[in-house]
Amino acid sequence: MLDRLDQQPPDALLALIKLYDADTRPTKIDLGVGVYRTSDGATPVFAAIKAAEQRLVSEQASKAYLGPEGDMGFVRALIPHVFGAAGDMGGRIDGMQTPGGTGGVRIAAGLARKAGVARVLMGMPSWPNHAQIFADLAMTVEGFDHQAADGSANMDALRTALQNAGKGDAVLLHGCCHNPSGIDYTPAQWDEIADLLVEREILPIIDLAYQGLGDGMEEDAYGLRKVVASVPEALIAYSCDKNFGLYRDRVGAFYALGKTADDTVRIMSNGCALARANWSMPPDHGAAAVGLILTDEALTKQWLDELTSMRARIGEVRSQLAAAGKAGSVDLTPLGEQKGMFAMLPLSKEQIGALRTDHGVYMAGSGRINVAGLTSGNIGAFVKALEAVAG
Ligand code: LMR
Repeated sequence: MLDRLDQQPPDALLALIKLYDADTRPTKIDLGVGVYRTSDGATPVFAAIKAAEQRLVSEQASKAYLGPEGDMGFVRALIPHVFGAAGDMGGRIDGMQTPGGTGGVRIAAGLARKAGVARVLMGMPSWPNHAQIFADLAMTVEGFDHQAADGSANMDALRTALQNAGKGDAVLLHGCCHNPSGIDYTPAQWDEIADLLVEREILPIIDLAYQGLGDGMEEDAYGLRKVVASVPEALIAYSCDKNFGLYRDRVGAFYALGKTADDTVRIMSNGCALARANWSMPPDHGAAAVGLILTDEALTKQWLDELTSMRARIGEVRSQLAAAGKAGSVDLTPLGEQKGMFAMLPLSKEQIGALRTDHGVYMAGSGRINVAGLTSGNIGAFVKALEAVAG
């Protein structure tokens, strides 16, 4: 029976990790999967995480099961950072720990499906796993162009998509640092989006995976907070994998906004049932470390300082790329205005292949680059390689 299964290709983005590792050229450049790198090209463990882990080792009394919702101390400690002064909105917001932001998206999608949503609007391109998760739940993805011709967010396309949809539909929105384009909605655009969601009665699913890597923890939460303050119901997936550097520890959360606090209790009971059926309980270690940081003033400050320097370095690389102007036919100027780790370069499959084969530059097949993979030591070589393939 199992011989009926078709061979599946490896995940194209994750496959890049192995391809890059196997390349023996010392000049190779990794712009593939979204991990932050320092100016030395390293991805160190945050000092605040190390300190929290040391405390865990000496103080954690038990590793007994916590339940499908995971560590609620962690989940609740994140709320002021994500939702701001509104807090849990009188019990209308509650959450659960998930394995990474992906676990949060999975719970959000599963709940939307269970509540009857069959169609999800999504700006394209998006993180490839979004469409994969919705497809796995037999939901239809209705794509619209995320990027306008002038390089800004395509509000016309979003407006039309929302106006052609209605009750029973959902829309997936990136809270900040759009993956893969780096093109975010402005605060004024978020205000309009929130109004449209209310008017069209469309369920927002917001994926906030890079808070703090764009303009700042508060600034990056503007859209999410605006939508949450406006709509009756929303589903939110959150990742700590990037802003706490915990990638392989898989630290994320799912939050729901219900019409009433009672509704939220019911929504979360369904979230817990989905978690139990999917992974039973999330892994504890990384979330326990984040929970410790967020409940200790000194560690919170240390973490925020580390996050600030990450953001500053990403901003510097973006400025350097923008200053390089044109690399062959590729205009790098817009990268200066974009946010977060990613940018899309208008390159053909052949050009992306030549960058890898001839120059040791690894990027996603979509043309997405992780700008954090560039350093003062390799940025010049990268621009030259671009000029050579896209001249
Ligand atoms: C990425 O987009 O590179 C990251 O979100 C890693 C992943 O899981 O795809």
